[in-house]
Amino acid sequence: MTDKTHLVDAVTGHRRMRRLRKSDWQRRMVLENRLTVDDLIWPIFIVPGSNIMDPIAAMPGVFRMSVDKAVDAAKEAADLGIPALATFPNIDLSLRDETGSQILDANNLINQTTAAIKKAVPNIGIITDVALDPFTSHGHDGILRDGEIVNDETVEQIVKAAIAQANAGSDIIAPSDMMDGRIGAIRQGLDAAGHQDVGIMSYATKFASCHYGPYREAISTSGLLKGDKKTYYIDPANGTEAVRDAALDVEEGADMLMVKPGLPYLDICWRIKEAFGLPVFAYQVSGEYSQIKAAAANGWIDGERAMLETLLCFKRAGCDGILTYFAPEVARLLAKQG
Ligand code: PBG
Repeated sequence: MTDKTHLVDAVTGHRRMRRLRKSDWQRRMVLENRLTVDDLIWPIFIVPGSNIMDPIAAMPGVFRMSVDKAVDAAKEAADLGIPALATFPNIDLSLRDETGSQILDANNLINQTTAAIKKAVPNIGIITDVALDPFTSHGHDGILRDGEIVNDETVEQIVKAAIAQANAGSDIIAPSDMMDGRIGAIRQGLDAAGHQDVGIMSYATKFASCHYGPYREAISTSGLLKGDKKTYYIDPANGTEAVRDAALDVEEGADMLMVKPGLPYLDICWRIKEAFGLPVFAYQVSGEYSQIKAAAANGWIDGERAMLETLLCFKRAGCDGILTYFAPEVARLLAKQG
């Protein structure tokens, strides 16, 4: 037998990575991560009224829905197997004020939505945000006093709002405001109100990012927002600070952690999954969605493949799930693929 050893065998010591990539069956055998419908959380936008499906220009394929339409959407999502929805209200501008007091109304748009969905579609989870931004006249997540977002007064208000949301039937409270001490305060408030089973998904690491633009259009805060959110969100330059912020939320009793935005912050997903072992979720935010949709609409990338690849990458980075506006589209696709 003649020796067929090649120069490459000598160089690699006979190891060849491509052996495991040579065919479809071989690649499937060694596949490490898979995206399933169980990984998807669908964020939806709610408007007052009925029979409304109002398209959001900067987010092709995404609508502001009236409560009745949101109930229909919840039914569809549950049928597709999507585990949970995250709801965001676009309330009347006339109801917004300096302190976001409308968030305390037991029958506000977000609580109405929760109650209606829970009644009609009991087998889908409802995740509600307690940040004040949809309710304030200045678009900030907290109470603004003398040009400052005041921490402790905001936390008091958020705790009351969380209890009202739990009373309406919310399963998971997800505070996105980044005030200090909010997780522990919400936990104590929920427990004192008898809501021991209501979980907390902390927006533990929320960055002062440019990627929220289309969302602010969706809930009409872009025209209102004065200044920026740098005194409460994390600087995109800081990873160690983000891990420390998440550690405090874990100590205060968060059940799950979230990283937001998603794709530019995969290192943070990995670090906090490794550090704490809690379920970790990423929020693929509006700007990430719009970038893919816009490039696909121009024929510059394959939108479907970009959607699937980005979502899969969250899994590889250690995420247990992803909040994504693609949720129904990808769930339909996964169902078709079987
Ligand atoms: C604020 C909030 C933001 C998003 C959801 N809640 C960010 C902001 O407006 O500063 C962004 C979601 C997205 O961009 O998809 N509490």
